[in-house]
Amino acid sequence: MADELVGILKKLSEAHGPPGFEEEVAEIIESELKGFVDEIRRDSLGNIIACKGSGEKSLMIAAHMDEIALIVKHIDDKGFIRFAKLGGIWDQLLVSQQVVIHGSKGRIRGVIGSKAVHVMKEDERKQLLTYDKMFIDVGARSADEVREMGIKVGDFITIDKKFLELAGGLVAGKAFDDRAGCTALIHAVKKAEPKCRVYAVFTIQEEVGLRGATVTGYAVKPTVGIAVDTTIAGDHPNMEAHEAPVRVGEGPVIMAADGRRESLSGGLIPNPKVKQWIIETAEKRRIPFQLEVLEGGTTDATAIQLSREGVPCGVIAVPTRYVHTFQEVLSLQDLERLAELLKGLMEEELPI
Ligand code: ZN
Ligand code: CO
Repeated sequence: MADELVGILKKLSEAHGPPGFEEEVAEIIESELKGFVDEIRRDSLGNIIACKGSGEKSLMIAAHMDEIALIVKHIDDKGFIRFAKLGGIWDQLLVSQQVVIHGSKGRIRGVIGSKAVHVMKEDERKQLLTYDKMFIDVGARSADEVREMGIKVGDFITIDKKFLELAGGLVAGKAFDDRAGCTALIHAVKKAEPKCRVYAVFTIQEEVGLRGATVTGYAVKPTVGIAVDTTIAGDHPNMEAHEAPVRVGEGPVIMAADGRRESLSGGLIPNPKVKQWIIETAEKRRIPFQLEVLEGGTTDATAIQLSREGVPCGVIAVPTRYVHTFQEVLSLQDLERLAELLKGLMEEELPI
C-alpha cells in the first residue's frame, strides 16, 4: 500500500497546478480513478466530482488540487519578470528558486534572481527581501524576447521541485498541501465499499479562498462534508510544542477547531457528531490519531459547511512539516493511516 501511495504522491507533487490552472493535476486524478468509481465529471470551474455507492444520504470528502504559486504581473524592458503571489507564501522562500512559467508556447524555465552577497551593504544583508523587489530571469534580453517566448501578463508560475524520499519513511517535496490529501482520497475511494453515496471531490482554487469547495458544496448537497488537507507539524527546531502540537508519525489529525489566529474566525468548528464519528471510526479500526486546534489556517470544510442551509462538517489532516514552503515533509505511514481512516468513514453508517 505504501508503494502505491508514494507513486501517486510523487506524480501529484511534481505536477504543476496553480490556482486557476489545475489541469495537469486533474488529468492525473481522473486517470487514477477511471474504472474505480461509478461516475466522474468535471464542473464548469474545473472541480472533479467522483461518485461511488448509492443511497439517500451522502458523504462528500474534498481535497484541493491547487498549490501556492505566482502570476506574471509585469515584464520590464530588459526582459525581467515581476510577479504577484497566489496564496500564502513567505517571501524569503522565493529567492533562488527555479520556476516554470506556463506560457502560450508551453513551459518556460526561469530562476528568481538576487543581488550577490558580495555587493550587499551590511544592513542590506540583514534585511528581509520582499517579493515585490524580486524578479524572474528567463534568459531574455528584452520584453519583446519574453513575449516571443509566449509569456504574457497573467501567465501562471509554479516552483519546480523534485520529490525526495528521506530516511524513516519520510518524504519531501512541494505541494503536499494538498496533493497528500488528494492521494489519500484517491486511494480510499478506489478501495472502499461505500455504505452511502460517497462523493470524492477534488477542488480548485482553495489557496486563494476556498472557491472550488464553495460551488461543489452547493452542487453536491451532501449530508455530511469532510475536508482532507495538510496541517502544521511542530516537531522540528525553532518551534515551541504549544505553537503547533501535532507531530509527524503519530497518525492523522482530527481537527477540533481551526480559523484565523487569535480569534478562530473565518474557520470551522466541526459538527460535534461528525467529529465524534471520525474519532470512533479511527478507534474502531485501531488507527492512531491526534486532535488539533489550528490557529492561522482553515480548509475547504469551512466553505462546505456554509453551503445551502448548512452542512455538518469535519476535517482530517496529514501532519506536515514546513507547510507552504516548497519543501514540505510528511510520513508515509501517516498518509497510509489517513487513507485507511477515509476508507473507514466511507464504509460506516453516517452519524446524521
Ligand atoms: Zn491546503
Ligand atoms: Co495551503
